[in-house]
Amino acid sequence: MQKFEKVPGLIGLCILTLLWFWPGEVLAIDNSECLDCHSDDGLVRENPDGGDFHDSLFVDGEKFNHSVHHLNDIGCIDCHSDIDALDYDNEVPHAVNLAQVDCAACHEEEASAFGNSVHSKIRGKGITMTCYACHDYHYVSHLAAASVAERENNFCAKCHNPFQGHDWLPKKAEHFAFVECTVCHAPEVPRHIHLKFFDLVTNKFYKGAEILEILGINYEEFMPLVDKDKDGVIGKDEFEVLELMLRQKNVHAIFHAELVAEMQPVAHQVNRGVAERNCEKCHSADSPYFNAVTIVLTKEDGSVDHHNVDRSVLESFSLKHFYLYAGTRMKMLDWIGLGLIGGAVCGVLGHLTIRVLTIRVRSRRKENDKKNKK
Ligand code: HEC
Ligand code: HEC
Ligand code: HEC
Ligand code: HEC
Ligand code: HEC
Ligand code: HEC
Ligand code: HEC
Repeated sequence: MQKFEKVPGLIGLCILTLLWFWPGEVLAIDNSECLDCHSDDGLVRENPDGGDFHDSLFVDGEKFNHSVHHLNDIGCIDCHSDIDALDYDNEVPHAVNLAQVDCAACHEEEASAFGNSVHSKIRGKGITMTCYACHDYHYVSHLAAASVAERENNFCAKCHNPFQGHDWLPKKAEHFAFVECTVCHAPEVPRHIHLKFFDLVTNKFYKGAEILEILGINYEEFMPLVDKDKDGVIGKDEFEVLELMLRQKNVHAIFHAELVAEMQPVAHQVNRGVAERNCEKCHSADSPYFNAVTIVLTKEDGSVDHHNVDRSVLESFSLKHFYLYAGTRMKMLDWIGLGLIGGAVCGVLGHLTIRVLTIRVRSRRKENDKKNKK
């Protein structure tokens, strides 16, 4: 403001006039203006009979501020782009019927991959699936940190119950708990193994920040600390040292392994009859799906740091592997699952963990079994 006072009146006026007529960004409507009305949780549509399913017009500003869009400076009118001014002379200061938001305007690659999917092709049957049928819209978060269970429950499980099909697949609960749906259903998406720290005491994943605090370092210092030979990959020996460091800090953690799709647009290409069902693709020593193994350090905003791990880690740690409790286990399964820190108790704890991790899936299955019997 002080600067402005020094500008001679006339120039100041010119600038103000210019600003007034300047299109777009300069006079962009601030989110707070929209939220003046829309943060009122009593605000509802006057005339809800238009066949539209949204009656409430409430937007949770606090939640919106944590969304990936807000964190990347996407504001209300970047999506609701047909509002270019608010006219307070009217009761509703903008058009009452706004255009549908076009996610594809900013996400072209995802939109074109999605175009080649069963979910888009059902348009032919008169069903239009929007991007936000899976993703939501105001409160979209980064997906990278989400676990397999979260990804499935937030997306696919809204509409599909995988236990009703897949009868050719043994151990359904284990597969759905450890393999993301799109790993099998989007044939072209690259896959990788995520290793996350899991706390056996609280039954929760350690957040990246918690692990770093235990080690007394920050995100940038993780690799320098662990990757002693500086080849960019955490080798078997280096992994063992990391394991030791954590044990010395009395951390009762295990590495929880999941087979997930990489965050790429081709993850949307889910189609009929093309899914993976070849057991050996995964259950063999040279499975191409296990080439990329990464330790995942999650961040507060839902993004992650990936650090490459040598795949031999999966082999060496299979010795203390939780499958040991199951007598019938196939040799080739050694490749995957949980490498336990704190060896001796592994069998029991591992079993517990898998039970805990699959409670939701199992209880859903039980419910369905009940329903089916009725
Ligand atoms: C003075 C209060 C007020 C302000 C400010 C306001 N709105 Fe609204 N808005 C309303 C009311 C009232 C409705 C309901 C209209 C109706 O009766 O259907 C509405 C409806 C909407 C709808 C639903 C429209 C539809 O087609 O169903 C959207 C989207 C919306 N507003 C977005 C915004 C955005 C974005 C801003 C900021 C640029 C904003 N609003 C600012 C009062 C306001
Ligand atoms: C990432 C894009 C995006 C952003 C950013 C966004 N919206 Fe929306 N908004 C949508 C979509 C999509 C819908 C649902 C249907 C439609 O209009 O297309 C919607 C619907 C609405 C509705 C109707 C009620 C409802 O929940 O369905 C209101 C009101 C609204 N938005 C206000 C806002 C306000 C206020 C902001 C900023 C704080 C905002 N929007 C930011 C995409 C967005
Ligand atoms: C059937 C559910 C579904 C629909 C519909 C859907 N997505 Fe996705 N989307 C996903 C899943 C699942 C992932 C994450 C894949 C993974 O875990 O690697 C994803 C990932 C993404 C990502 C992050 C990965 C990347 O490419 O950077 C973006 C952005 C995205 N989707 C945008 C969209 C847009 C835009 C649309 C509409 C054109 C859309 N999605 C429709 C399920 C869906
Ligand atoms: C005005 C541009 C814009 C529009 C419109 C828009 N987005 Fe985004 N979106 C972004 C930006 C920028 C990011 C953050 C950078 C990134 O991750 O690509 C983002 C990120 C995302 C992500 C997170 C990807 C991840 O990292 O996990 C998803 C999912 C997503 N958007 C879905 C949607 C959906 C669904 C809609 C429609 C309701 C939509 N977007 C509309 C600009 C937009
Ligand atoms: C909003 C609801 C919805 C969501 C969310 C959803 N789907 Fe679908 N899905 C459908 C509909 C509708 C069909 C078409 C069924 C038909 O044509 O009979 C379909 C079809 C399919 C098919 C082909 C079915 C067949 O009969 O061969 C597969 C495979 C599939 N979805 C997988 C997924 C996966 C994986 C996800 C999560 C990334 C997902 N779906 C998310 C609604 C959904
Ligand atoms: C191990 C691989 C694998 C996993 C994991 C998997 N699927 Fe499938 N799924 C298949 C195969 C193979 C088929 C047979 C038909 C096909 O190719 O689409 C199938 C069929 C389907 C169908 C069509 C209906 C049916 O049962 O024949 C739907 C819907 C479906 N899957 C959804 C899902 C969802 C949702 C998930 C995640 C919870 C999931 N699938 C996980 C491999 C898998
Ligand atoms: C896309 C990769 C993939 C495919 C395809 C696949 N599996 Fe699996 N399978 C896994 C993963 C990952 C696990 C979970 C490992 C764990 O529990 O830690 C698993 C678990 C299992 C288990 C449970 C082991 C136990 O002791 O709990 C059996 C049995 C099994 N798979 C057999 C099969 C058979 C038979 C097929 C083919 C019909 C098949 N799998 C297809 C990846 C796959």
